[in-house]
Amino acid sequence: MSADENMLVVEGLTKDFLGLRALNTLSLSVRRGDIHSLIGPNGSGKTTLFNIITGLLPATDGRIYFESRDITNLPAYLISSMGISRTFQTGNIVSNMTVLENTMCGLHTRTRLDIKNTFLRRPFTSSAQEDRIRWEALDILEMVGLGNSTERLGGELLWTERQLLQIARAIVCKPQLLLLDEPTGGMGLEESKAVEDIIRHARNNLGITVMIVGHDVQLVARVSDWVTCIDFGELISEGYPEQIQEDPRVLEAYLGED
Ligand SMILES: Nc1ncnc2c1ncn2[C@@H]1O[C@H](COP(=O)(O)OP(=O)(O)O)[C@@H](O)[C@H]1O
Ligand SMILES: [Mg+2]
Repeated sequence: MSADENMLVVEGLTKDFLGLRALNTLSLSVRRGDIHSLIGPNGSGKTTLFNIITGLLPATDGRIYFESRDITNLPAYLISSMGISRTFQTGNIVSNMTVLENTMCGLHTRTRLDIKNTFLRRPFTSSAQEDRIRWEALDILEMVGLGNSTERLGGELLWTERQLLQIARAIVCKPQLLLLDEPTGGMGLEESKAVEDIIRHARNNLGITVMIVGHDVQLVARVSDWVTCIDFGELISEGYPEQIQEDPRVLEAYLGED
């Protein structure tokens, strides 16, 4: 594998919490243009990896490179302005802002628009830039199926809608790399399939490289180009989804789960 086909390279990453090694010399690469899934049992370190990549937690040891630049331990706002956006497993929607406002908030990394001041001036006194990002946000909301919910408050949304809104907010930034933490967690099959379609659209039509933290091996198998499986913060297997599904080390890691 030549170095420059990788968008993200994690090298020997270790993360210690008090007395607990959450990641242990973990190395993996995400190829540009892939839908790459990171799987592993609960507590295996998946969210911790996302937190370190995005600058929310410092690494104990090891390096992270994004487009060949060392981003290890840079502040989160810098990393997001370089083109990495993410969603959170538990959702982090602003309850008293509308769906549209929540989505437009995703754009502050990419524009000079002062979102807070914009929202204080109700109704919108629109500048050309405000109009443009409004249309972009509406477009993305339509794409994720929230086109009829733009004026609802974040706090009114159901679980699935919150997940969709998080994805919309992450995509509207036009990231190069989108990190989704269990985007179908708590969803039924129908809803999961809708999210899968959005993920494919992001990659195929918007050119975004996607890394998904998934728990469900079957689901990951349908959408991924490449899968990495970790357990106890260590890489235990990587390959094409069909290889991973049959890997005894992966099956063993999941035994006794749930
Ligand atoms: N901020 C934290 N402080 C202390 N321990 C943490 C923290 N975040 C995660 N952990 C621990 O690190 C391990 C990995 O957690 P996590 O990355 O959330 O796993 P996963 O997302 O794979 O379920 C778990 O044992 C968890 O309890
Ligand atoms: Mg997690």
